Amino acid sequence: MSCISDSLRVNAGGVDLRVPVVIASGTWAYEDGMWQDDLARHVGAICSKAITKDPCLGNPGTRVWETPSGILNSIGLQNEGIDSFIDHRLEGLKKRGTPVMLNICMQSDEDLAYMMDRVAEVKDMVDGVELNVSCPNTDHGCMSWGVDARLTAKATEMARAKWDGPLWVKLTPQAPDIPAVARAAELAGASALVASNTWLGMAIDTKRGVPVFARRVAGLSGPAVFPLALRVVWDAAGAVKIPVIGCGGVDSADAALAMIMAGAAAVEVGASLFAGFGVLKDIHEGLEAAVARWGVKNVSELVGKARETR
Ligand SMILES: Cc1cc2nc3c(=O)[nH]c(=O)nc-3n(C[C@H](O)[C@H](O)[C@H](O)COP(=O)(O)O)c2cc1C
Repeated sequence: MSCISDSLRVNAGGVDLRVPVVIASGTWAYEDGMWQDDLARHVGAICSKAITKDPCLGNPGTRVWETPSGILNSIGLQNEGIDSFIDHRLEGLKKRGTPVMLNICMQSDEDLAYMMDRVAEVKDMVDGVELNVSCPNTDHGCMSWGVDARLTAKATEMARAKWDGPLWVKLTPQAPDIPAVARAAELAGASALVASNTWLGMAIDTKRGVPVFARRVAGLSGPAVFPLALRVVWDAAGAVKIPVIGCGGVDSADAALAMIMAGAAAVEVGASLFAGFGVLKDIHEGLEAAVARWGVKNVSELVGKARETR
């Protein structure tokens, strides 16, 4: 059993992570029963499910579909809205002693202004904001901000104007020019980038001859997207000076290390949790072993290692 050492402690855009492993938004339930102390030691921070201004029922019909080495989801931002989240969820999440990032997803300027005002009111309870300009599972807002550098900058600036704490901007891999979007977010005040959210995908129900999902498209994640996500991390990290957090298909310490060597300061883990929480311990212990193997004091010395020779 590994003990807590500082060899994996990193700072990701103002958030102190005891290990560089973050639970990705939407892949963890809030219920106390989900959280056990022996898991907490393997987790640096936890991202909330996407929070919108008003309560949201989410998408009708099938919401999750397994694919080879992956998962398509079309949850559609189901959540209770920011007011209820702050009143009923935040305290329970905070008492676990692990930093909590609020994944904020807006459909309009007014939504964002309202939510950031509410977050600022409870700033002592919030370790940071993960600005979600990347969810593909809704017809309005969200990913339409993140595919465009100008709109990403606008959303980031608006959030930054109301919030002086850590601000992670979660990119969409669907953006045609990742470096441009990454630079726009950095210039507008992001303290870190998360690269990235899910890829647009589809499934067809061949028995009925119809798309599986009511919105036709859904977001693909899991190990199937890992090489794609690695490329997004590489491109984003090459374009900015702020930390990049790798996200997409991380299912092992080796995958986490590859993200780090491509330029990520930390990783988020989502779909792999559905196969079991043991992945968190495996990544933690595997990264500790990697730090020892490479003869460095802290994992941050391995950030961008693979870039040195290219
Ligand atoms: C069921 C499910 C729900 C998700 N909900 C959200 C969400 O609410 N907000 C968000 O930013 N990302 C959401 N995501 C995307 C993940 O946070 C993550 O960016 C993506 O799945 C890639 O990482 P992974 O391959 O490790 O899962 C969701 C993913 C899944 C599988």
